[in-house]
Amino acid sequence: MEQNLTEPKKRIFSGVQPSGNITLGNYLGAIKNWVSLQDDYECIFAMMDLHTITVRQTPAELRKRTLELLALYIACGIDPQKSTLFIQSHNSAHAELAWVLNCYTYMGELQRMTQFKDKSSRHADNINAGLFTYPVLMASDILLYQTDLVPVGKDQMQHIEICRDVAQRFNGLYGDVFKIPEGLLVKSGAKVMSLTEPTKKMSKSDPNPKAFISMMDDFNVIAKKIKSAVTDSEGVIEFRPEDDAKAGINNLLTIMAAMTGSTPETVAKDFEGQGYGTFKGAVADAVVEAIRPIREEYDRIIKDKAYLQSIYTSGAENAYRIAQRTLKKVYKKVGFIIE
Ligand code: TYM
Repeated sequence: MEQNLTEPKKRIFSGVQPSGNITLGNYLGAIKNWVSLQDDYECIFAMMDLHTITVRQTPAELRKRTLELLALYIACGIDPQKSTLFIQSHNSAHAELAWVLNCYTYMGELQRMTQFKDKSSRHADNINAGLFTYPVLMASDILLYQTDLVPVGKDQMQHIEICRDVAQRFNGLYGDVFKIPEGLLVKSGAKVMSLTEPTKKMSKSDPNPKAFISMMDDFNVIAKKIKSAVTDSEGVIEFRPEDDAKAGINNLLTIMAAMTGSTPETVAKDFEGQGYGTFKGAVADAVVEAIRPIREEYDRIIKDKAYLQSIYTSGAENAYRIAQRTLKKVYKKVGFIIE
């Protein structure tokens, strides 16, 4: 990760949708990784509120959750002195670039997106155009900042791919307008699975609350959920990532590895010969002890609305300034009069 001091720092962009409970999956797959990247990269992290309205939201809830997400970013260790933090809708350049890029993205490309297929089957009464063009808005988020790296969970890699395709197409027509970004995955935790159906991703929109750990759950609830996580009847602690019958244990090993900076294989060795009960107890303790200080910080920060407002206001100013440079370039290239 070390960089030459004479070169400008590479830029990172990422974000989470404030659309529900922020889960252990969001933390291990994304936010925890961001914290460790802050010193070596110029980081921009946003609360992606524009994306959330592709599914119906309760307005007051959305406002509340957006602010809570900002407080959680900071509580997890994102330092507003080092990184830019802002609310996506506060920078109009995102929606503006998305319009332009909509005209450079093909229906066929969007139809192939697994998230669209999945969300349109879950929200069959509201298959709106925003849901369909969601990846174009996400591409705009990334490309506006001439981003080098996008640290995300595995489920977002298809979105990064389409972002690269659209950027390359645009550059092919108009010259080097956009930097071509790359996705960045963590070694352990890039895909944390559901605790009740461990072949499915842990998701904040899962209707069964036992399937996910919310960063806001009571500590005894977290421990209970882990202790009752679905495993298997084999009774052997072994990491076998290709074996679906082992999905529950694989997931707990991965969570433990992500928590302790280890690998699932090493964790499996450490617990070799022990029962599932003992192992689950240790995973529960590790998760609770990692979340405890985050929650203490969160409880303190969320009360300070003036502080949070000052962070997102200055963050938006910075984001707007950077984004305008790209947007102006794009407008000029496509033939709009910009001055
Ligand atoms: P979202 O809000 O669904 O998730 C936020 C981040 O958490 C990761 N993640 C997971 N990682 C590991 N295991 C899991 N079970 C898990 N669940 C979620 C996601 O991969 C993501 O990194 N489309 C994005 C938000 C977005 C964005 C962007 C991200 C909008 N514009 C630009 C990066 C750059 C999303 O819905 O993430």
